[in-house]
Amino acid sequence: MTRHSRQLRDTPVTHALYQRYQTVRDHTEHLVEPLSAEDMVVQSMPDASPAKWHMAHTTWFFETFLLAPNVDDYTPFDPTFGYLFNSYYEAVGPRHPRPQRGLMTRPSVDQVLAYRKHVDEHMAALLMTEVSDDMASLIELGLAHEEQHQELLLMDILHLFSLSSLKPTYSPRWPKDAGGRRGRFKPLSAGLTQIGHDGNGFAFDHEGPRHTTYLQSFEISDRLVTNGEWLSFIADGGYHTAALWLSEGWTLIQENGWNAPLYWYHDDNGWKRMSLRGLEDIDPAAPVTHISYYEAAAFATWADARLPTEAEWEAAARAGLLEQVDSVAWQWTQSAYSAYPGFKPSAGAVGEYNGKFMINQMVLRGGASVTSPNHCRLTYRNFFQPDKRWMVAGLRLARDSRQPGVVNPHDSEFARDVLAGLSAPTKSLSPKYFYDAAGSDLFEAICETAEYYPTRAETGLLRRIADQIAATIPEGAALVEFGSGASEKTRLVLDAAPHIAVYVPIDISATALNKAAQSLRQQYPTLTVAPQVDDFTRVLTLPKEADGHTRIGFFPGSTIGNFTDQQAVDFLHAAHDVLGENAHFIVGVDMVKDADTLVAAYDDAEGVTARFNKNLLTRINRELDADFNVEAFDHLAVWNAQQACMEMHLVSRHEQVVSVAGHSFRFAAGERLHTENSHKFTVQSFTDLAARAGWTVSEHWVSDAPEVALFSLQA
Ligand code: AVI
Repeated sequence: MTRHSRQLRDTPVTHALYQRYQTVRDHTEHLVEPLSAEDMVVQSMPDASPAKWHMAHTTWFFETFLLAPNVDDYTPFDPTFGYLFNSYYEAVGPRHPRPQRGLMTRPSVDQVLAYRKHVDEHMAALLMTEVSDDMASLIELGLAHEEQHQELLLMDILHLFSLSSLKPTYSPRWPKDAGGRRGRFKPLSAGLTQIGHDGNGFAFDHEGPRHTTYLQSFEISDRLVTNGEWLSFIADGGYHTAALWLSEGWTLIQENGWNAPLYWYHDDNGWKRMSLRGLEDIDPAAPVTHISYYEAAAFATWADARLPTEAEWEAAARAGLLEQVDSVAWQWTQSAYSAYPGFKPSAGAVGEYNGKFMINQMVLRGGASVTSPNHCRLTYRNFFQPDKRWMVAGLRLARDSRQPGVVNPHDSEFARDVLAGLSAPTKSLSPKYFYDAAGSDLFEAICETAEYYPTRAETGLLRRIADQIAATIPEGAALVEFGSGASEKTRLVLDAAPHIAVYVPIDISATALNKAAQSLRQQYPTLTVAPQVDDFTRVLTLPKEADGHTRIGFFPGSTIGNFTDQQAVDFLHAAHDVLGENAHFIVGVDMVKDADTLVAAYDDAEGVTARFNKNLLTRINRELDADFNVEAFDHLAVWNAQQACMEMHLVSRHEQVVSVAGHSFRFAAGERLHTENSHKFTVQSFTDLAARAGWTVSEHWVSDAPEVALFSLQA
């Protein structure tokens, strides 16, 4: 039945193509399973098409471009379908007007399904013949085309359902967009790069030719902009600040009254969004979707960044710098959709596939949650007009590289940690940032308050048991103190153990360290004092003065309680490595006790702890160009019995937007910023923790109430 006398055969190539044909065609029918016949007829706007039309049009492609030219005496399933289901191919002939696709109550869904079956049977027969390379390419194109329509079908159904008062669910099992950390900028240096498809395997014609292009050095975010960041943009007046917008975009949002992404709805309880799972809460950690190019560009301007070009995007993706490449949302680029150097549209009617749309559209890269499996490539060029929002489009930021040699305080670890902490669904900051000069003074003042017992209790305990500790320290040992500060408590140990030969205080503050070292050398003239300026959680080696001495670690102050469980284990492990084989480690911890005593210790009547907590905001204001109104936050101390930890928070008194290092963060009234955990232990829980890092408890001592404890650990 084939026009050219071809033999029937089942080569591996045609077999693989046939399998793929069936998989793709079945997938379309699987996608419409949740839909009623009525769902499949309606056209919600001129850009969208009814599901029934997608099913028929993808079939028309195979009938028109594969069966009609290659199968002898092929009789079209229905002579009217060429007119009804031609999309935009001028070379094929006239067609039903696009905006009126929703008026096609005929043919019925059943007739369209019969049409699919008819074409599939003929395609199966065709695929059992010797398929030329040109035909195989056309079949691949037809399948990629159908995959594009599978995505359109989902986009169009979402649009249709979003307009229904019932806000129907397409599928309750449709996967949620995964959230996660906020993006980090990754640098790429200037130079020549190759972009575009190299011709191996299938690609759309416009993805090539592969060619060389020059990139200035730039930085690109490894993750997509989140809903949480978008909420900050909204709260910061992003939709009402003309200076952020392209002129056309500004006009568009005025005319349409846009103040949020498509499918976002605001009610008394805040924002919700429509998805294929129906109406749902907005996950602040998930990428923002359904934004136009204009909105993406305005956001980028607001964030002191820009959109990447498509060449930057492709170079960064190929270099493995990007996450969320094609799993959640297509990403707007700042590249206008146009021909690559040397581009020639494919021959014949399918030459109309891409080339004729190369005007007034912008390129999107990546892929989306609604994109069919394995449909995308790093060279894939999606394109839409800049005002469109019904596709699953989001953005990742890029920016020009900073001038070399210019140190930007906003690129510091502190800045990155603060921005990440404020962007998280539950806002938090690391307690390690409490201790700037003012914070260290305030901590000293806390230790003087009537309520804060740990320092007094530990000093009293040390005084009482110093001789017992001294007895565990071998002659000529080196005492290594982690986070030594003014080395106050150390003197109690040094007095009781004059046989200690070397003292290695480790602290991040060189000033505190040198001051302490000087005074200790005077007070203990035979002691070798070898200070080390270092972040004590990251110590890898000790000064050479400690070589050849048995090492005794010393970590009082219950600071280990401020670590997360994993940080505590990691720290104890690292200490194990640095102290070596026969080491002992003396660690101070605060014990679980009644909630009243604990809460009072972290919320003293004079408000010193409150000032200590709020000083973190003052520090962020000073170092990160932030505008926290410190008075608009309340100090809160709560006992979390389940986690056995005292928590400190700062609670926003009212709804407010805070700018930090050029980024805006929205706080709801009553929203908490979690600033510290201070874990409390029992003898058992600390013994278990130490065991996870390879330490056994050889002895422990507990103070009078309020109880704190000192543990002697053995490597
Ligand atoms: C340093 N650290 C052990 C103190 C604690 O108790 O967790 C810090 C502190 N936070 C509030 N008051 C004191």
